[in-house]
Amino acid sequence: MLKLGVNVDHVATVREARKVNYPNPVEAALLCEQAGAWGITAHLREDRRHINDHDITELKTKVQHLNMEMAATAEMVKIASSLQPNSSCLVPEKREELTTEGGLDVVDNQTWLTKVVEQLHSSKIIVSLFIDPESTQIDAAADTGAEYIELHTGAFANASKTAQRRELKRLIRGAEYANSKGLKVNAGHGIDYNNIAGILEIPYLHELNIGHSIVGRAVMVGIIQSVREMLDLMSEYPS
Ligand code: PXP
Repeated sequence: MLKLGVNVDHVATVREARKVNYPNPVEAALLCEQAGAWGITAHLREDRRHINDHDITELKTKVQHLNMEMAATAEMVKIASSLQPNSSCLVPEKREELTTEGGLDVVDNQTWLTKVVEQLHSSKIIVSLFIDPESTQIDAAADTGAEYIELHTGAFANASKTAQRRELKRLIRGAEYANSKGLKVNAGHGIDYNNIAGILEIPYLHELNIGHSIVGRAVMVGIIQSVREMLDLMSEYPS
């Protein structure tokens, strides 16, 4: 069964817009679980622009499966090692970006990333690398010892109709290649209630990490319903 990880960063973004104490991303996470989400994803950024240290600690104590998105920095490795989320997804991070903009360059940072993967493994944390669907990046990801990759679906999600087909083919080839290298494959970024039909054509998927569209829809129908609607669409994925 294709699993859903709901990214609750966007709940914290609404809170931080006013620097108040609502809406609470932990409360939202528990409702997502209640609606059937398998896991919760949260990105503790260096600048703490949405999720903060208190949120991530509370999430760890309260949710069933916490996937901590993080930059591969010494600070984040230290936090993750003491927090022990169930899994971590290493992402590139630039201060000025609105959201995570591209995949990790594993090829150029292989020595450091291998070290980070080893450190996280020594704390019994499963590791995923967020990468674009390129064979060189997939080869390098496999060489770090990470168990998972998360394919960056942003280029697909943002593309116009014809380019979208081309991006989807890249994702399909990427998933096939990663699977042939023994990597488990997740996907995320920009997935919504419309483009998910294309995403479901990608083979070998274990988990989708989806945030913005679910939290956006929650404004209209409530978060239990918005998660259920996404799960309903995901149930079409061949098992
Ligand atoms: N996966 C990763 C690695 C991400 O950085 C993000 C965005 O924080 C997501 C998934 C979720 O993307 P979206 O909010 O566009 O659904």
